[in-house]
Amino acid sequence: MKTVINLPEIRAARAELTGPIGFVPTMGYLHAGHLALVRRARDECASVVVSIFVNPTQFGPQEDLASYPRDLPHDLSQLREAGVDLVWTPTPELMYPPGFQTWVSVEKVAQGLEGAARPGHFRGVATVVAKLFNAVQPHKAYFGQKDAQQAAVIQRLTKDLDLPIQIVVCPTLREPDGLAMSSRNSYLTPAERQAATVLFRALSAARIAFGQGERRAETLRQVVRTVIGAEPLANLQYVACSNAETLEELELVHDKALLSLAVHLGKTRLIDNILLE
Ligand code: PAJ
Repeated sequence: MKTVINLPEIRAARAELTGPIGFVPTMGYLHAGHLALVRRARDECASVVVSIFVNPTQFGPQEDLASYPRDLPHDLSQLREAGVDLVWTPTPELMYPPGFQTWVSVEKVAQGLEGAARPGHFRGVATVVAKLFNAVQPHKAYFGQKDAQQAAVIQRLTKDLDLPIQIVVCPTLREPDGLAMSSRNSYLTPAERQAATVLFRALSAARIAFGQGERRAETLRQVVRTVIGAEPLANLQYVACSNAETLEELELVHDKALLSLAVHLGKTRLIDNILLE
């Protein structure tokens, strides 16, 4: 496994790989959810590239950029074990040198939900992913359903900019009690960690209602609000029942919908979602 930092190095190392090339962009502090994307890329591609970069431009001024968890040695040993060919760990100075002023801004699909709760977030995500794609030039890129709106934004960007990259969205990996794996779970106190199961419990309660025939989006959202409301440590920021591709809010669920939510547990903000179909 080769590790590179700067742009000439990643370009040279990429040129030596045999295709098809699979790419998994990450912010590190890798867990089983990240490794599932790597495994899928390993199964489907001749070469696998992973980037580790805590991208400052996707964090708001009041967010957790400084405290975002990092453990590069452990990340690298997990990636080596997973059979990754090339790891790129650029620095903020290399990605955003003085004078940087070009942004990729995806519009409608990036505006609601996470886009509304975190202004500027998807501009940072879309810009860094476009730069990562441009350097790595993969055939396939792997993203998690855990960040459903991010996956939708990247799919839109790839189409709109005619990038010859297939976007593969992989299922959310969960802890045995249902909590979606996330690097941010490491912030939770033991009591908050227990309370955090409420996200998936709320989504599952709505899924049961959907299974019993409930199609009114507002009623499904209300099921989520009720379950979250019963957990004293959890504060619901939003719940949405939306079109899975455009992220537009629905009144009625016809064939398929994305049910998603954001919850504060103390200082930690967690998101989760399920597809209703
Ligand atoms: P990060 O949060 O490190 O996530 C990297 C990838 O892993 C994303 O595609 C995310 O959806 C996926 N992932 C995270 N938790 C998962 C889980 N429990 N199950 C399945 N997949 C999971 O997302 C980012 O980094 C950044 O925004 C990035 C795309 C790298 C741009 O900076």
